[in-house]
Amino acid sequence: MKKTLLVTGGCGFIGVNFVRLVLATRDDLHVINLDKLTYAGNLQSLADVEDHPDYTFVRGDICDDALIGDLFERHNIQAVVHFAAESHVDRSITGPDAFVRTNVFGTFTLLENARKYWLEHGRGNDESRFLHVSTDEVYGSLGKTGYFTEETPYDPRSPYSASKASSDHFARAYFHTYGLPVLITNCSNNYGPYQFPEKLIPLVLNNALAGKPLPVYGDGGNIRDWLYVQDHCEAILRVLDQGRVGQSYNIGGHNEKTNLEVVEKLCDMVDKRVGLLNNRPRRELITFVADRPGHDRRYAIDASKIDQELGWRPKFTFDQGMEKTVDWYLKNRSWSESVMDGSYQDYYETMYGKGK
Ligand code: NAD
Ligand code: TYD
Repeated sequence: MKKTLLVTGGCGFIGVNFVRLVLATRDDLHVINLDKLTYAGNLQSLADVEDHPDYTFVRGDICDDALIGDLFERHNIQAVVHFAAESHVDRSITGPDAFVRTNVFGTFTLLENARKYWLEHGRGNDESRFLHVSTDEVYGSLGKTGYFTEETPYDPRSPYSASKASSDHFARAYFHTYGLPVLITNCSNNYGPYQFPEKLIPLVLNNALAGKPLPVYGDGGNIRDWLYVQDHCEAILRVLDQGRVGQSYNIGGHNEKTNLEVVEKLCDMVDKRVGLLNNRPRRELITFVADRPGHDRRYAIDASKIDQELGWRPKFTFDQGMEKTVDWYLKNRSWSESVMDGSYQDYYETMYGKGK
């Protein structure tokens, strides 16, 4: 008997990579992908797996209590990997409402339905798992030294990280209060195929190819700890399979880079692959712009717990991951074009018709 895994937000950047990994490597799981298809959801990214026998897509909102309850009952869901979220810090600064709604209330709605179905109705079993996917941003900002561990006190500083911190607290509370089999992962910045081009790496790649300015916030000295998305997805599967319920696991790439280093590297990689732009190196497109309000200075993950307990560590170095990423975006320019001209949003109507 296959186990039914509810993946929320499976049409987003990490969700798409995760669904692909599960379908390619696991024959013991059937994936239900629940996604609202906000601006960040791209159903086209999974077009080639749509007919896979172990895959079902459902369009819907994680805040919709009746829909979630029905999904648990109808599909006897025994595991949840919860990605769905509003995920962009800049958008959380200009419009925090959707972050509170989806990230906090949506997570609560999922937890509550898992509790009712698995515990109250007695339909769970020893293998039931609720994996809440979160971020290292809940820990706040580091100075020049030190790392985030699972014991670092929460100190969120943007509306995005505040909403994720709140959802983490609810997830943990459901473990302590009700014994819901919750696991939490806190991961650093991901990069790789299918990332929406509002985030630093795909934005810079697209602008560099188009010869447009490359906006670097502040002095470009902010540090992120970059992880190739496939490594993150493999870590999530490892935690789902082997993690101890009630525990949090930090996931990181051991790849601390300043934003300027990342942008300069992308410029050089694009120059090398497609040639200079009007005989000028693309580094000349770098434009320092006003800093993000409350911009966290440095994130860096201590990932020794997941390494020691579960034997996970990243497979890809930053150079390897960046090679794969830049090559993917160059080979799949039509994917970026359909996102940038908005036509990716027509795919659902075309495939599923109105009202489905
Ligand atoms: P994303 O913005 O690319 O995708 C989010 C997905 O969730 C989209 O498909 C969107 O349509 C869907 N969604 C949004 N609101 C919804 C709702 N109310 N109901 C159902 N679906 C909804 O995000 P991502 O970068 O793939 O991140 C996925 C998760 O991983 C998030 O929880 C994020 O906080 C976390 N995370 C991301 C990173 C990163 O670097 N991207 C790092 C650590 C953790
Ligand atoms: P981002 O990809 O938005 O991820 P996060 O804010 O979750 O870390 O940004 C990564 C870093 O790049 C962050 O320090 C902000 C910076 N940044 C720029 O300098 N220019 C940009 O255009 C963007 C989108 C981000």
